[in-house]
Amino acid sequence: MTSIHAFWLAGRQTTGETTFDVTSPWDGRVVGKAAVPTDAQVEEAVAAAYAVRDEFAATPAHVRAAALMHVSNRLVERTEEIAQLISAENGKPIKWARGELGRAVSVFRFAAEEARRFNGGEAQRLDTDAGGQGRLALTRRFPKGVVLGIAPFNFPLNLCAHKVAPAIAVGAPIILKPAPATPLSGLILGELLAETDLPAGSWSILPVANDKMPALVQDERMPVISFTGSEKVGYAIMDSVPRKHCTLELGGNGAAVVLGDWSSDEDLDWAASRIATFSNYQGGQSCISVQRVIADASVYDRLVPRVVKAVEAQVTGDPSDPATEVGPLVNEDAAKRVESWVDEAAKAGAKILTGGKRDGASYAPTVLADVPADTTIACEEVFGPVLTLKKVNGETEAFDAVNDSKYGLQAGVFTHDLQTAFRAHRELEVGGVVIGDAPSYRADQMPYGGVKQSGVGREGVRFAMDDYTYERVMVLTGLAL
Ligand code: SIN
Repeated sequence: MTSIHAFWLAGRQTTGETTFDVTSPWDGRVVGKAAVPTDAQVEEAVAAAYAVRDEFAATPAHVRAAALMHVSNRLVERTEEIAQLISAENGKPIKWARGELGRAVSVFRFAAEEARRFNGGEAQRLDTDAGGQGRLALTRRFPKGVVLGIAPFNFPLNLCAHKVAPAIAVGAPIILKPAPATPLSGLILGELLAETDLPAGSWSILPVANDKMPALVQDERMPVISFTGSEKVGYAIMDSVPRKHCTLELGGNGAAVVLGDWSSDEDLDWAASRIATFSNYQGGQSCISVQRVIADASVYDRLVPRVVKAVEAQVTGDPSDPATEVGPLVNEDAAKRVESWVDEAAKAGAKILTGGKRDGASYAPTVLADVPADTTIACEEVFGPVLTLKKVNGETEAFDAVNDSKYGLQAGVFTHDLQTAFRAHRELEVGGVVIGDAPSYRADQMPYGGVKQSGVGREGVRFAMDDYTYERVMVLTGLAL
């Protein structure tokens, strides 16, 4: 019998009145049944989070740090089981699921470390002017309040970790809603958090149905919303609650720029291999996967066959096979959408150099050249295993091409030149520039987030901690400074 995965209501494992099936995108088998909270249970969780907010904010740093470190250690102990679950519910190849798990271990560890460092307080003397004589300002950060975390399907464990761990680190209660397609990895976090001494109500993990979310988003007891997902939903949330603090991690169409100085055989082999890997990892379902390759004319003709060869070498198939590099997309509809965008581009004149075929929820790793600028795939985030190739003349044209997008999440620039690297850092309109590698590199302690339509705010443990808190000043008077 398929097991029921209970949800977590104010730290208690509970079921509701209904469940839904979570199925494998690879073979359609039911991986588990997720229990759905009733409206009354959701209300109970929000009320508990709101009620505990002052107590949680006052919890000693060592208690929060110990809880976070416990989760990190337990993730290590349960690595294989949880990686298998991520792979089963998401369709992500097991090698990438293990990688995701390792990252979540680090996220909780970073949060434990930051919890101890955070909020030491900053003193500022105010006797710089006569009116401030004998005065000192002491600034500390305090939680803005309860966080509503809304996580996506593409990293079902680690992007839940990026919502939960910083909240615990600052003592802000959190209600986490995992993605409907992949709730089970998020729910596992509840098992580990329940082993800690965190106060009841400080965390809940609730697979709330999407159609119930507008009411939760409006709830004034949760002044902070941290959302990762589509541009459309993210901005609809922000527009519906203009007075709340929203962090939005939205789409991207990551560019990998290969400049003229990146020209030895070894250089081009490396660039091709990184581009092929990171346009296809997660089936291209990462906001920083490589979607656009922008190469200088002097290296383009030598790069393209290497990219095509490296893309064709990607091992596709059963995500549970350790050799598999590219599994299915999250469902067949997603693969059909990718297919329709590639077909539209091909009809408009794009050349399919490899791939371009769908089989159920799987889409073959695909390379497109000569893509007309007004096609959907040239303008939108494909979120599938497809890359486009563009030839440019020189650095300025390359950087202009990167910036010619409504998105601005991350970009990769293959160059050896330090001055070019600094120019890229200055001129590219993105949240992160990676020199010598694909745009898909993310270390979980770095600030991560976008500009333009890629979102607002930053994740990356300490940066999310800043985001969840505000500065409050205390002025001391009558001091002998
Ligand atoms: C995302 O898809 O936005 C997350 C990418 C990552 O964490 O590597």
